[in-house]
Amino acid sequence: MKRILVIALAVLSMMGRVYADEGMWLPMFVERLNYVDMQKMGLQLTPEELYSINHNSLKDAIVGLGSSPRPTGFFCTGEIVSEHGLLFTNHHCGYGSIQKLSSVEHDYLKDGFWAKNYSEELPAADMTASFLIRMEDVTKDVLGVVTDDMDWAARGRAINAKIKELQEAASENGKYNPVIKGFFEGNEYYMFVYQVYTDVRLVGVANSSIGKFGGDTDNWMWPRHTGDFSIFRVYADKDGNPAAYSKDNVPLTPKHHLPISLDGVQKDDFTMIWGFPGSTERYMSSYGIDYNVDTFYPIIIDIFGKELEVMDEFMQKDDAINLMYADNHAGLANTWKNFIGQCTMLRKNKVSEAKVKLENNFMLWVNRNNKTEYKDALSNLKEAYSQMGKVAKYVYYPNFISQMGPTGKAAAFMGYYTAATGDDKDMKEAAAMELQAMNVDSWFAESDPQVEHKMFAEMLKLYRKAFAEEELPEFYSNVIDKKFKGDIDAFADYVYENSIFATPESIKAFIAKPSAKKLKKDYAFQISQQMTDVIMQAVPQYRASMTATQENDHIFVKGLREYYAEMYPEKSLYPDANSTMRMSYGSVQDYMPADAVHYDYVCTANGILEKYVPGDYEFDAPKRLIDLIEKKDFGPYADENGDLIVCFLSTNDITGGNSGSPIMNGKGELIGLAFDGNWEAMSGDVNFEPRLQRTINVDARYVLFIIDKYAGATNLINELDIRKSEPKPIREEEEVPAE
Ligand code: ARG
Repeated sequence: MKRILVIALAVLSMMGRVYADEGMWLPMFVERLNYVDMQKMGLQLTPEELYSINHNSLKDAIVGLGSSPRPTGFFCTGEIVSEHGLLFTNHHCGYGSIQKLSSVEHDYLKDGFWAKNYSEELPAADMTASFLIRMEDVTKDVLGVVTDDMDWAARGRAINAKIKELQEAASENGKYNPVIKGFFEGNEYYMFVYQVYTDVRLVGVANSSIGKFGGDTDNWMWPRHTGDFSIFRVYADKDGNPAAYSKDNVPLTPKHHLPISLDGVQKDDFTMIWGFPGSTERYMSSYGIDYNVDTFYPIIIDIFGKELEVMDEFMQKDDAINLMYADNHAGLANTWKNFIGQCTMLRKNKVSEAKVKLENNFMLWVNRNNKTEYKDALSNLKEAYSQMGKVAKYVYYPNFISQMGPTGKAAAFMGYYTAATGDDKDMKEAAAMELQAMNVDSWFAESDPQVEHKMFAEMLKLYRKAFAEEELPEFYSNVIDKKFKGDIDAFADYVYENSIFATPESIKAFIAKPSAKKLKKDYAFQISQQMTDVIMQAVPQYRASMTATQENDHIFVKGLREYYAEMYPEKSLYPDANSTMRMSYGSVQDYMPADAVHYDYVCTANGILEKYVPGDYEFDAPKRLIDLIEKKDFGPYADENGDLIVCFLSTNDITGGNSGSPIMNGKGELIGLAFDGNWEAMSGDVNFEPRLQRTINVDARYVLFIIDKYAGATNLINELDIRKSEPKPIREEEEVPAE
């Protein structure tokens, strides 16, 4: 019996190579590293059709979404789907822009928006779309400046200076935005040259009750029934070059656009996803994992959880507040749930334990081969994380909490206070002058005084709970306890009545007549000062440990690559995600989330009816959608059983930043948009879990159904390049015989 099992396992693990698809690969190496594998699995394109710098290729339809002034800090991915620059991304990626374009009267998050023609499209001032022109290995140039006598900080400075120089040279006088990034913890460097388009316009979006159906309850979960897509368009000047918004701009004619397939998905079908994954930690040591799980994540969960509680209370009863905080809330909720999931699943999937095994084997190899360079990396990491763990609390709690409400505003006056209480007369005058330039109104934009007031009080309570009495800044005992009998709500009310920093008017009045004495007496300012002191005391230690983790991660990963090359030469390593273009490939697959539980790889619109709760904050759905589903009026978008597939699962390896990425079949046609990962594999950013890890995609047919049948946006359906293969005969002999 046993023996058979061993063989069966070996076979399984060989199949695993074909089906379980770990790795976010750099497209420029596709031919060397992945092509044969991909072809075996069902890819029908040539390497040149995937990535080429001389010809148009698939990469030219993949877009990094950013916002100025850092357009290449991609938060999501988009793909071009028509000859006229039409762009698909997720609903949750367009969310912030759509919020900014909305008002309570025209709430496009709540009600959706569909432009009937170009002239109705709305400029999304803060969205940019970057196309990758080329990428190249610049490791030799960058690391060429490093000499043996440099310490880690000097090394960093030399590298950054070189990076700046190379980026400038490649920008061709501002035509391109080149970005150089470190890979494998600074052991390799690559340059990515982008062309950045800044005139991007909103074309279509469904109501949030479709685009965010299931809300935060369903977020990070399967089965999922969210129509997570929104539609934008990239505009250019008449010559196709990037240009700031202008009426005269025209839709971009792209080098490549993705056709959309109506064929749908079957289990085992080949899938590939291209996009801009943000960050993974696949080479993190067990010490880093333990620090995150035991120290860092719990702090953030504590703070964000309370912030969300306060926001929820007001958002759910007030439309204006709901709209105002929509994007902020969604971002916090997403990270909060992600960190809870990571803590749970890193433990449950025993990721740290697996790393300890790897680290033990690594050390055996180090000692056996006398690799002195790598000898101390792990023990140094252990020490660095232990030091960081001791101070993290004193950095994060005051840092987040002192940014809230009036304390956050008071912090902006710290520089003035220092100058005003010093002896340098010129400095004093300069500091008072600087106050005039403050854009006070902008500090209060997108914030509601009731929410901020409550948040301020709740955060002060949270802080008190997180620390021992003797560790609290002295305003707790001197002011809150002595003058307000420990009643934080009463204290917060007092601050909101009396502090300079409670309203824009009082801040402006102060700026008109600034005085260090008044500042010193202001409670919000005192809190800000005292919390800053807490942070400043912890910062040197925190920074030193941070530097030590970076330096030793660099050495550890260098050693690990050598270890793998010697011990497992058949294994190719892929670099961690770092917001650069990657390709991941896999297949459509179901999974078993727990013993005896089987999750199908597709879900249908029937699930929307099952989850539907009229009037609910998360599970309401538009009446029109419910009617269409009940009538099974799905048009050409139904599957072979007459059902409407909403989302499907694949084994592709993705992470945050990939949101909005196209998932494509072997012909490079769009079959859906990737938008999430699944709960059971929330540990996936640190360790890929082949058995459990899945990408959640919204099916292209559901997207088209919403555009066409739900919204009636036939103008867009006509613009898209929609394809359907001829149905294949089931058996040869069933073909109609020729006359
Ligand atoms: N989990 C998704 C991601 O990280 C975001 C989903 C947003 N939806 C939400 N309910 N907050 O890309």
